[in-house]
Amino acid sequence: MSIRYFYLSLLIVLLTGCMKNKIENKLDGEVLLKQKCSKCHNLDMPPKSYDNEIAPSMMAVTFHLKDFIKANDPSEHEAKIVEFVKDYVINPSRSKSFCDKTSLDSYGIMPSQKGKVTVDELEAIAKYMYNTYDNQKMLKIMQEKQRLARMPLYKRVLEQQRCQNCHDIYKDKVAPSFLSISKKYNNNKPLIESIKNGSKGKWKNFKLIMPPFKKMTDKDIEGMVNWILNLKIRDKNEI
Ligand code: HEC
Ligand code: HEC
Repeated sequence: MSIRYFYLSLLIVLLTGCMKNKIENKLDGEVLLKQKCSKCHNLDMPPKSYDNEIAPSMMAVTFHLKDFIKANDPSEHEAKIVEFVKDYVINPSRSKSFCDKTSLDSYGIMPSQKGKVTVDELEAIAKYMYNTYDNQKMLKIMQEKQRLARMPLYKRVLEQQRCQNCHDIYKDKVAPSFLSISKKYNNNKPLIESIKNGSKGKWKNFKLIMPPFKKMTDKDIEGMVNWILNLKIRDKNEI
């Protein structure tokens, strides 16, 4: 393939990609929820913190609506909730809100979003809310959190950050084994630095670059480095 054709097809792929996104985004409930509602409602399930809330979390709102709005026929439950959201967001009122009195007094009634969101957009938002904030999904998330919390730190980090795509514990692969690293260092500082900011050129036989892990917490990085440094001691005892 000539280089010109290569660029031409790249351009076409990029352009059709953009067009597709535009059409889908228009009524993408997830994107719209973020754009139109996240200024006041926390969208996480479950929220990481309940401090300084100016509105109930979207999870709380949706669970609340699911509890209070009844449908004789379960297949109509979603439609009924969607109707409520479409109406409430444009015409909120104290009498319609399912929020308890104390919470209403502290939050104040939701300001009407008339003019800021269309009925079609609200339909997409409400359907997304109904399907996302779901008891079964919440249960799975909590179980997964518990599973991770019960794991030893190094196992969790290996799994979450996929260190083993490049590193083996005992054998050199595309990156030095954690055991070789352990044998080369006694001090944790340079290793903490390397995980935070990446590393290259320190290991002569490895051409690859170690990417920075900016999103890892300091606690995870330090725990991981301690585990790596201890490998040489455990190695002597166990192997
Ligand atoms: C300017 C802040 C603000 C924005 C923006 C906002 N809300 Fe609210 N919303 C609130 C507050 C405060 C409450 C709680 C008081 C109440 O029920 O009116 C609330 C309550 C609600 C309720 C009723 C909950 C109940 O228990 O009755 C729904 C439904 C809701 N919001 C949906 C939305 C959706 C969907 C959007 C985005 C299109 C949105 N809100 C945007 C502040 C906001
Ligand atoms: C994309 C491949 C890749 C991944 C993923 C990766 N590493 Fe590395 N790592 C490398 C390479 C390559 C080196 C050697 C870099 C060099 O030569 O400086 C390295 C080096 C290191 C070093 C030694 C740095 C130094 O200063 O000598 C540590 C510690 C380390 N990695 C830990 C980790 C941990 C922990 C993870 C997961 C959070 C991880 N790596 C994920 C490729 C990777």
